[in-house]
Amino acid sequence: MSSDAAALRLAGVTRVFPQSGQALEVLRGVDCAVVPGELVALVGPSGAGKSTLLHIAGLLERPSAGAVEIAGIEAGSLDDAGRTALRRKTIGFVYQSHRLLPEFSALENVVVPQMIAGVSRRAGAERARALLDRVGLAGRADHRPGKLSGGEQQRVAIARALANAPALLLADEPTGNLDPKTAEGVFAVLRELIAETKLGALIATHNLDLARRMDRIVELRDGILIQAQT
Ligand SMILES: Nc1ncnc2c1ncn2[C@@H]1O[C@H](COP(=O)(O)OP(=O)(O)O)[C@@H](O)[C@H]1O
Ligand SMILES: [Mg+2]
Repeated sequence: MSSDAAALRLAGVTRVFPQSGQALEVLRGVDCAVVPGELVALVGPSGAGKSTLLHIAGLLERPSAGAVEIAGIEAGSLDDAGRTALRRKTIGFVYQSHRLLPEFSALENVVVPQMIAGVSRRAGAERARALLDRVGLAGRADHRPGKLSGGEQQRVAIARALANAPALLLADEPTGNLDPKTAEGVFAVLRELIAETKLGALIATHNLDLARRMDRIVELRDGILIQAQT
């Protein structure tokens, strides 16, 4: 992994969903690079393929064709175990709904991915406390997700995504379920952490106000990614 590598590079990525009649070509040749420290907004109408693109970038799905490179490592030649290992080490993912483990405390939710990556419980808990403090939840570490507000749940999800110090953060409409004021607070935390940690981030959003405050905007239109004018 070279330090000057892009956090994410996509080249000629296509995704075709077979269906009866004509196949559905959602992505038709997406090229994209996100460099370390860069915060990129991904926009496009509902059904444009934003989630499909993020799942491919996150190594959760394979493209039909094209190359996916994370932190300088080309994922196409890796088997499933290799892709999982690369994903755990280099990618943090935030979903629209927090997807936290309901039976675990906020702290444990941030510890678990670290333990899966081989970190001791003690070291994981120490880092989790620092991350929860950083997202403004020092006093909520022992609460289960069900006892937290929507904004607090997303803050925990952000802390969890950053738990293993990824090179790339992917987020699929992370403030989509939040009211405008709460969305603003969650976005502010996200932006600060990205600037501090120098990770590259690609964030799908419908909120054009937030998108305009990212470093740049890319738009999915007819299966191609274009630089949007702001
Ligand atoms: N697993 C799948 N099988 C078939 N079609 C899919 C699948 N996943 C997504 N699609 C289709 O691909 C298109 C893009 O979906 P999606 O990536 O969810 O768009 P967005 O996130 O921009 O709203 C939609 O038409 C959707 O129905
Ligand atoms: Mg989507």
